[in-house]
Amino acid sequence: MQTELVSGFAPALLEDALLILGQVFPAHWQYPDARDYYSKMLADSANINIFLNSDDKQVGYVLAIPHDQAVREMREDDPQLKNDPSAYYIETIGILPQFRGSGGLKAMLDRLLAECKARGVVKLSMHARSGFSAIVQKNFKILTFRPVAKWRYANFEEPVDYIEAAI
Ligand SMILES: CC(C)(COP(=O)(O)OP(=O)(O)OC[C@H]1O[C@@H](n2cnc3c(N)ncnc32)[C@H](O)[C@@H]1OP(=O)(O)O)[C@@H](O)C(=O)NCCC(=O)NCCS
Repeated sequence: MQTELVSGFAPALLEDALLILGQVFPAHWQYPDARDYYSKMLADSANINIFLNSDDKQVGYVLAIPHDQAVREMREDDPQLKNDPSAYYIETIGILPQFRGSGGLKAMLDRLLAECKARGVVKLSMHARSGFSAIVQKNFKILTFRPVAKWRYANFEEPVDYIEAAI
């Protein structure tokens, strides 16, 4: 499996991202404006969009955005968020079920870290579901950790952990 850092919007990339997100998260968690939102996310060069590729098929996707942009988007959802220009926020991450457990996550995160470092970013932030939270806690130096009991982007159905990790 290879990683691909993409820059700029392309219709095929949008379809790949939506297909992956549609399969890794419950259907009723999808943003109603997902097509518009991820078109903008792909088009904005401030963001980091990375795909995981297997045999010419996109099987994983991670999007990281400037942390301060996430604060602007989510301040009402998590009033404890504070600005930090040295951080990027993992907005979404997922790998198709049949391609998990094969090193793809590490490959995507390594590529994300390399791109963050190239941009002078020293921290990753995220609201992580329990499985991803456990992986991050095991593999990163944790700077901030606090549980968030109700999270709008998990449809208020699961708690998440707010994490800041050093990179
Ligand atoms: C979260 C998700 C992407 C993880 O993918 P995965 O393929 O299941 O992950 P893996 O089991 O391969 O990754 C964990 C392994 O990678 C290793 N790993 C991950 N990142 C690493 C890193 N940066 N450095 C070292 N090791 C790392 C872990 O140690 C672990 O190794 P193990 O084999 O000893 O357990 C996947 O479960 C998924 O798509 N879930 C649904 C969507 C979702 O919930 N996303 C999170 C939103 S917050």
